Amino acid sequence: MYPLIRKALFSLDAENAHNLTIQLLKLAGKPPFVTLIKALLACPQGQERTVMGVKFKNPVGLAAGADKNAEAIDGFGALGFGFIEVGTVTPLGQEGNPKPRQFRLIEAEGIINRNGFNNQGIDYVIENVKKARFDGVIGINIGKNKITPIERGKEDYLYCLNKAYNYADYITVNISSPNTPDLRQLQYGDALEDLLQSIKARQQILASQYNKYVPIAVKIAPDLTEAELVQIADTLRRNKIDGVIATNTTIARDNVQGLKNATEIGGLSGKPLQQKSTQIIARLHQELNDQIPIIGSGGIDSVASAQEKIAAGAELLQVYSGLIYQGPALIKELVKHC
Ligand SMILES: Cc1cc2nc3c(=O)[nH]c(=O)nc-3n(C[C@H](O)[C@H](O)[C@H](O)COP(=O)(O)O)c2cc1C
Repeated sequence: MYPLIRKALFSLDAENAHNLTIQLLKLAGKPPFVTLIKALLACPQGQERTVMGVKFKNPVGLAAGADKNAEAIDGFGALGFGFIEVGTVTPLGQEGNPKPRQFRLIEAEGIINRNGFNNQGIDYVIENVKKARFDGVIGINIGKNKITPIERGKEDYLYCLNKAYNYADYITVNISSPNTPDLRQLQYGDALEDLLQSIKARQQILASQYNKYVPIAVKIAPDLTEAELVQIADTLRRNKIDGVIATNTTIARDNVQGLKNATEIGGLSGKPLQQKSTQIIARLHQELNDQIPIIGSGGIDSVASAQEKIAAGAELLQVYSGLIYQGPALIKELVKHC
């Protein structure tokens, strides 16, 4: 069935196909359909585990960017995911970069996007999260507005953290999108230390205010040198960050050269990212020594590629591009075997 759906979706521009999918999943998330879809897909419950102090019914999650505005949580949930990460969301709604900004690299099973955090803003996202009935874990991925100068980026993260804290099961600090100018600078040196110290201090205040501890994960890029990765690991450990998501999309194009759309600017995801993100997970795992759990993301398109991420040290998995290329059967297989 999915090859037919995929053919129809691939006849549309990538972003239009995405928007249509969100509309369909919004509908699929309504009570009568949710039950029907769950019955049709017959996705198993999967293996429960506790990571970052949060109980996950299975380790397979939807990566950020697929449901930026938290509009289709219940529809995605019906596909069997154990957790759904919504966002990236910014304090104010923003348009993102001019279209077209999303491109398929079909032969490579990759995607390049330069969306630039198009989203409706944190208030809208929180209202949608409140309405969701999904029985799994909901993560809220936060970022900064494009108009906020990078030196004041921290204020945007703290603003979103305040708003999201009471409604998220965990919060992701996204400092690794390649599509917001200078954002990746926050991954290095004093900028990272300062950001994480402030976030950790605010988490403590919010934990006593709401009388609950909501863990914080940091999402990193795959485009890091060995020295940068070691320094990031050290800073995450020192600041007692609860989790790390490895990785976001890559700006590298080494294994897609010559393919249609390969020269588009933006972050590359899907199969061409698979090995690179697994290598980062393995190196990070060595460095973190099981002190901070790793959520593996990047090119998961089969049980084998998911198991490679787990063998490299990932405790949870996130999928986005694989869902587009393989369809919901991939989620079922991953839940069954991981
Ligand atoms: C179209 C698109 C939009 C994305 N938007 C975001 C985003 O807003 N925030 C984020 O943290 N990651 C974003 N990502 C990255 C994914 O969450 C994921 O980390 C990356 O694509 C690697 O996983 P995959 O190969 O399974 O897609 C986006 C990816 C794609 C393809």
